[in-house]
Amino acid sequence: MREPSTCPDWLIIYSEKGKNTTSGLDQHVYWILLIAFKGIGRANAKKFKNQSLNYSGIKLFIQKAYQHTDIFEYRRYFYLQFGGDMQETEAKSIRILGISGSPRNMATDFLVREALKIAEEKYGAETDYFSSKGKRLNFCIHCDFCIRTKEGCIHKDDISAELYDKMIWADAWIIGTPVYQGTLSAQTKTIMDRCRAIVAKNPKVFLNKVGMGIADGGDRIGGQEPAIQTILNFYVINEMIPVGGGSFGANLGGTFWSKDKGAEGVSEDSEGMRSLRRTLKRLVQTTKLVKKASSGIESETQSLETPKDEVK
Ligand SMILES: Cc1cc2nc3c(=O)[nH]c(=O)nc-3n(C[C@H](O)[C@H](O)[C@H](O)COP(=O)(O)O)c2cc1C
Repeated sequence: MREPSTCPDWLIIYSEKGKNTTSGLDQHVYWILLIAFKGIGRANAKKFKNQSLNYSGIKLFIQKAYQHTDIFEYRRYFYLQFGGDMQETEAKSIRILGISGSPRNMATDFLVREALKIAEEKYGAETDYFSSKGKRLNFCIHCDFCIRTKEGCIHKDDISAELYDKMIWADAWIIGTPVYQGTLSAQTKTIMDRCRAIVAKNPKVFLNKVGMGIADGGDRIGGQEPAIQTILNFYVINEMIPVGGGSFGANLGGTFWSKDKGAEGVSEDSEGMRSLRRTLKRLVQTTKLVKKASSGIESETQSLETPKDEVK
């Protein structure tokens, strides 16, 4: 799971020069840098110590980063700054966010966590998780604050405090929902509706992120497919790339019969587990393809867009 960063690689670089670069730094900028260098990875970050970035260089870099970057856009900026090294690392590691739309930590929570565990252990993915259990999830009230101001959502709840950032961080999402009344849960739908606000702020915020769905119902055929279909439609509407698991077993996504027995019920559903593993494999393959393709595009744009007076 993604932890709050405990290993600021950029501090390693600059502490070797005897500078405490945290002092006097705006906390916001500190955070951007921390995440950015974590994104590059320790090995590549260390390489920078041999390059021409000195202390005045990093100060200039920070100033530019702060001007050109808001917290949601920092990755693009760092791509432009560090080019090849970072692209190479990014193509190898992918970031997956799991979301459980159940108000309990039972069947859906188990399934989404299980998918993330496989993603980490089998595919080397970095993961993060958001459970709806106990969270403040306010309905969209169609006030159009987000459309008028382009400043995000008027609500200040756990979606705005926690989930938006995770969504933007991830390259791929796994949305899991219990089946309620033949479709997805109200919690899952609320999360989707609230995405309107950050898309209003930046219409391309989710562009080319990859997504899959998981649904578990108490009945064998209780509405799992309509629930997953709604999740896939959400991805399409938000310019993401939806994936299923392929024919002969997985089809639209991870599909489970919980028999209303929570984690125990779904873990006994071997066909469901097969559909989950197959869909997850497609998610990982597609995400790697997309990342590889987009790093090529970044590489082309880098030479055109990086201003000459940026960090030397
Ligand atoms: C309000 C409500 C509506 C439900 N409607 C359905 C349904 O239409 N079809 C179905 O198969 N199961 C239905 N269920 C059962 C849940 O989908 C099932 O127990 C699920 O595995 C619960 O997931 P959880 O353990 O993650 O909360 C419903 C449960 C609730 C609370």
